[in-house]
Amino acid sequence: MEKELLLMLPGPVPMPERVRYAMMRQAINHRSPEFGAVYADCVRVLKTAFGTTNDLFVISGSGTAGMEAAVANFGRDKDIACLVNGKFGERLYKISQRYGKAAEIKSDWGTPLNLDALEERLEQGAQVVTLVHNETSAGIKNPAKEVGRIARKHDALFLMDGITSVGGDVVEADAWGADVAIVGSQKCLAAPPGLAGISVSNRAWERLCKNPPFYLDLAAYKKSAAGKPMETPYTPAVPLFFALREACLIIEEEGMAGRIARHQKMAQAVRAAVNAWGFSLFPKIDAKHEYSNTVTAVSYPQGMKDDEVRPIIKKMGIVIAGGQDHLKGKIFRIGTMGAVSAPEILATLAATQHAIKKTGYKVQGDGVQAACEVLG
Ligand SMILES: Cc1ncc(COP(=O)(O)O)c(C=O)c1O
Repeated sequence: MEKELLLMLPGPVPMPERVRYAMMRQAINHRSPEFGAVYADCVRVLKTAFGTTNDLFVISGSGTAGMEAAVANFGRDKDIACLVNGKFGERLYKISQRYGKAAEIKSDWGTPLNLDALEERLEQGAQVVTLVHNETSAGIKNPAKEVGRIARKHDALFLMDGITSVGGDVVEADAWGADVAIVGSQKCLAAPPGLAGISVSNRAWERLCKNPPFYLDLAAYKKSAAGKPMETPYTPAVPLFFALREACLIIEEEGMAGRIARHQKMAQAVRAAVNAWGFSLFPKIDAKHEYSNTVTAVSYPQGMKDDEVRPIIKKMGIVIAGGQDHLKGKIFRIGTMGAVSAPEILATLAATQHAIKKTGYKVQGDGVQAACEVLG
């Protein structure tokens, strides 16, 4: 019997049955009231997850399409300050280099951002700030509210990647002054990959670039969304919209507060296990930065081999993530996103603990027991 693997990744994540079945429907006309209603449901729920009353659109494309849409529409030919402490901060910097005059404000992956350097760049005339709220590559949660405050003080636009926080952790796009915020469908929303939600403030619209991209032209999205029925400018990935609508209805049923509390508790259980093992969490946080509640990054102790540990876990049917780029072999990452609850967490921690021991390493204490104490 072929068994499905349990994906405990920082996206994609397992999809509830209702979400999977929603994709099996017959094709519909995307220029129809039926599609308009699907799109409207997605937008309504995503606005609550973003904490915004701004315009919000759904793009057929992964999270990176949302990042590119943000920069290409609002950063072209502008002076852009890019805060970087991980892979996705780097990605926003690379995109910004394509479209504007980008300056990287760089910290080591998983270490606090240099907000003094941000102030300096803004004083020197930066007009746009980019930030990854939840830096998935390093398991660190960056101070979006503080960055929003600084950006506003200098009258800069604030573009925020909330790709792995929206729908799983506290995001207050409006209160934080995030002029543009982005989510990816395959992360905390527990929908299939391939869609990105993007919100746009009035302040951002006032500063829309003159030569926008074609496919990702957000003014075209705005025009189509204002139509009756509500539409997208080009043919959307309709089956993915069906699935996203279902995922959004599930979020609405659970309620954002409960959903956030659940994500926080699952991450807390993983951190309790890591502490009990005597292992170190990878990020170096300070008073302004926090551990991510949607992905926990753990440093391998000296000598422990990623290519030995994770295959043992996979043999037990569970997939966790390794490190990316220069962190390959140095860290492992356990995602706590989407529909995740105690059984998945406990199975993952038990399998990980077993793999650690099997590769000849000792743990100080019982991580599974420590997690049970958080979850029980
Ligand atoms: C924080 C963050 N931003 C952006 C992305 C890119 O999203 P996608 O792979 O959907 O293009 C990811 C993907 O892991 C991410 O974690």
